[in-house]
Amino acid sequence: MKDLIDIRDLSPEDLQKLTDTALDIIARPEAYSHLCQGKKLATLFFEPSTRTRLSFEAAMYELGGQVLGFSQANSSSAAKGESVADTARVVECYADIIATRHPLEGAPLVAAINAKIPIINAGDGGHNHPTQTLADLLTIRRRKGRFGHLTIGLCGDLKYGRTVHSLIGAMSRYEGVKFVLISPEELRLPEYVRRDLEQGGIPYEENRDLEDAMPGLDVLYMTRVQRERFASMEEYERLKDSYILTVDKLKNAKPDMCILHPLPRVNEISVLVDSDPRACYFEQALNGKFMRMALILRLLGIPGEKPAQEVPTGEMVPGLRCWNHRCICQVEQELPQRFRRDREGAYRCLYCEALAETE
Ligand code: NCD
Repeated sequence: MKDLIDIRDLSPEDLQKLTDTALDIIARPEAYSHLCQGKKLATLFFEPSTRTRLSFEAAMYELGGQVLGFSQANSSSAAKGESVADTARVVECYADIIATRHPLEGAPLVAAINAKIPIINAGDGGHNHPTQTLADLLTIRRRKGRFGHLTIGLCGDLKYGRTVHSLIGAMSRYEGVKFVLISPEELRLPEYVRRDLEQGGIPYEENRDLEDAMPGLDVLYMTRVQRERFASMEEYERLKDSYILTVDKLKNAKPDMCILHPLPRVNEISVLVDSDPRACYFEQALNGKFMRMALILRLLGIPGEKPAQEVPTGEMVPGLRCWNHRCICQVEQELPQRFRRDREGAYRCLYCEALAETE
């Protein structure tokens, strides 16, 4: 794969190597400080971001490279109606690699299909966020020393929380991993993620009660309720404070449990928890920069070889449609409807993974 669109584009061996590289960058930063000299990263952010965009930019600067881009959709030609495919084709004239965030699910894949340079998905709607997972993984490796044999509690907005979907995609491949899903009924995992767990035979349980789940957890991954994805603000207001992690709720947690949060936090973790040694979310943000450095090097083939050029293109299936209104194919009507089959042979939209339906 020339790109990183889905965390499963990287095998467990790839993830081991990337985390090795990140650890080496931490140990010997000077050995990396000129490796991207003469290279440019474009950050195309059609949605707000602090950590992801700035850590990508810091990563490229610390590799000796340069950065260009925009941080708001209304400062790009998207505001004039330019398609994602055209934007990608234009920006590849000016940069060597692109990191892009977009509110529509599947938009970075469309960019990858249309550009020859590597595309990194920096978050696509409520779908995926693979580079946040890289930050999560390095934090887990540094804190727990392993990826397997962990019970991971995922708490909050599991429906729209793209970081959760990518973390599940990555961790599902390690032996002995079990998930505990802690969310209100309305914010349960999307059907396609649940199907992946079931088809892979990955153990998981659901528990509405965070305190009840706490004693069994090795990792607790808290998330923000994703206000921007709600159709109804009333529903958001009702659900936004479903789970608030406090010092008191941690009293039955394992002494070496690791508390993760992709940030930004709104209300889900009391600031009093920050001084607990189990709180890892600020080091997680720092780890994100080192993993993005490792990723940029890998996709640019520095040192070594550039990854192969393949990009999944799926197949056209007459009579089938994706009906997910948050998918790029609903908005950019000229995009062909394309599908991939899952393990049970069901067709899913190539761009957003929603189960296809008949026209
Ligand atoms: C996350 C995101 O954008 O999905 N933030 C991030 O990149 N660290 C989580 C969130 O916005 O809640």
